Parts: sequence; structure tokens; C-alpha cells
Amino acid sequence: MSTENVLKQLEKFFSEKVNRLGPNPQGADYNSPESQFVRFDQLIKVLPPVEQPFSLIDYGCGYGALAHYLREKGYQFDYQGFDISEAMIQHALQQKPADVDWKFFTSEAELVPADYTIACGVFNMKFDADNDTWRTFILELLVKIARLSHKGFAFNMLTSYSDPDRMAQRPDLYFGDPLFFFDYCKRNFSRNVALLHDYNLYDWTILVRM
Ligand SMILES: C[S@@+](CC[C@H](N)C(=O)[O-])C[C@H]1O[C@@H](n2cnc3c(N)ncnc32)[C@H](O)[C@@H]1O
Repeated sequence: MSTENVLKQLEKFFSEKVNRLGPNPQGADYNSPESQFVRFDQLIKVLPPVEQPFSLIDYGCGYGALAHYLREKGYQFDYQGFDISEAMIQHALQQKPADVDWKFFTSEAELVPADYTIACGVFNMKFDADNDTWRTFILELLVKIARLSHKGFAFNMLTSYSDPDRMAQRPDLYFGDPLFFFDYCKRNFSRNVALLHDYNLYDWTILVRM
């Protein structure tokens, strides 16, 4: 299956999910708010301390949960959210507080480079794309993300170290090898790369500081 078809399927899957379950963790295909927040807590380690303003691209932003999470923690940030799902963006716009200037797009071309980019849960579903095709697609997307990010970026992925019995290594999901992606980021993006694989979920996080 071509990646273009996978993207169409992704759009359909996530739009249907959020329309059916609403703008909440289940609607973004997470098990619980706790697991979503544990992931955010890893990814936001790439950001500066809370008192230091920055700009952020939320790549695959869903209904904008990360922006709300950062605001509740007191961060000051200019925010652009991008998602291929029209329905996610509609929900994000409805959830947006009146007193912020967060921007939401369904077209990647509208994104303006920012200090940081975060991509949470974006690479997990590959439907029936084969592993090599999907990995190439991810690498191309990481190159785009690096170009959009002046100071750094962070992303996560399901781990190839998942227990095959428990996760059943479902063929529609992509389980990335953290060592491969760590090495790729180190060789291609920056000398400053951190791999976090110590937070008790079946995924890992990479932080890249430019
Ligand atoms: C698991 S949800 C996570 C949403 C959000 N990042 C969060 O953590 O709450 C994944 C989101 O990524 C979006 N997505 C997947 N692949 C994408 C791509 N290539 N470009 C833009 N959005 C994408 C989906 O539409 C979906 O809303």
C-alpha cells in the first residue's frame, strides 16, 4: 500500500474516532489520560524552563490536548497545531480558549518554522504498509520536522522491544527500533540527542536539540 493511501486511511480512522468518542484521550486512540500525560511529560523535556517563552509546532496535534496541557502548567508559547484529520482540527478549534492565539491547520504548507516541534503518537498506525516503506516515510517526515524546528524537536514511537505476546505486534501498527532512530538522529540532525525508554509504556521518546 502506498503511503498516500495510508494517510487517507489515517485521516478516516482518526476523524471517525474523534467524532464518535469526542475530544478526549480515547478519541485520540489513547487508553487513558494518564498514559497521554506520561507521553507529554517525556516530550516536553525538549522545551525550555516554564518561565522562558518559545514557539511550538504540534505535528499531528489531534484535538490540541498538548496545548491545553502546556497552558495548565503555565508555559508561555506561540502555538501552531497541524493534523491531517479535518475533524480533529474542528474539535481543536472548538476547544480553543478565547484568550489565546493558537493556530490550527490541516495543511502542512501553512506551518511556519518554530523553535520546537513535538510529534506525539503520529507514527504508530501504518495499516498494511510494509515496515520498510513506513520507516522511509517516517524518516522523510523527520527531515521535514527538523527543517521546521530552529532549536529542537521530539517524537515518540511504539517500541520494537514490546513483548510480542502482550502487544501481539499487530501488523497494522509500527514498532520502531529505538537504536536505529537514535543513530539516525545523531548522524543526520544533531550531536545532542536523548533517547528515553524508561517510563513504563510500550514506547520510547527521542529529544533532538539543534
Ligand atoms: C494518536 S493521535 C495523537 C494526537 C495528539 N498528538 C495527542 O497526543 O493528543 C495521532 C494524530 O496524528 C495525526 N496524524 C497521523 N499521521 C499524520 C501525518 N502524517 N500528518 C499529520 N497528522 C498526522 C492523526 O490524524 C491523529 O490526530
